[in-house]
Amino acid sequence: MDYMKPFGVDLDLSKGVMKNPATHIVRQASSMRGHYADAAALERLIAAGDPVHYEVAEQPVPDAPGQMRFGISTTLPGTVGGECFMTKGHYHAVPDTAEVYVGLRGQGYLLMKTVEGECLWEEFRPGRVIYVPPFWAHRTVNTGEEPLVSFYVYPGNAGHNYGDIEKQGFPVRVLKRGGKVEFVKTRSK
Ligand SMILES: [Fe+2]
Repeated sequence: MDYMKPFGVDLDLSKGVMKNPATHIVRQASSMRGHYADAAALERLIAAGDPVHYEVAEQPVPDAPGQMRFGISTTLPGTVGGECFMTKGHYHAVPDTAEVYVGLRGQGYLLMKTVEGECLWEEFRPGRVIYVPPFWAHRTVNTGEEPLVSFYVYPGNAGHNYGDIEKQGFPVRVLKRGGKVEFVKTRSK
């Protein structure tokens, strides 16, 4: 049998980076249109230099059942009209697939929601392991003053479904006002 060969990658845990990742995705503010309540504030941020919102570094594996896809996610600190910087958030394209996150640096939350609109969150902090069960969409939110860095791993065939979150959003927004973090419900479901 023609087996896939084992491999290793190095993480710099003090900096929260993967060394020499094969894939490095960078999402700037301009890729986040439609996700924040204050669209005008986002446009001002884009016009002022379009800062990076989040980055993902991966060493890809085949998109096949039995494989485990893993990487490092870094969400930068900042706010848009008081709303904390966040990732787009997604369901998995194969929805009954779970994911594990490990907080490495920084402070924030992993917001999770079901298709019925239930929304829960878990705190991200160094050393905190968060389990995202099958069917829960998930979005990282940085509520701190430094980059929020996490390690993640999920089934290789899970894929991403961003479109449903673009349409539905999350029923909770995370704001930071006067240094205080607030969770604001945007709708009853
Ligand atoms: Fe995921």
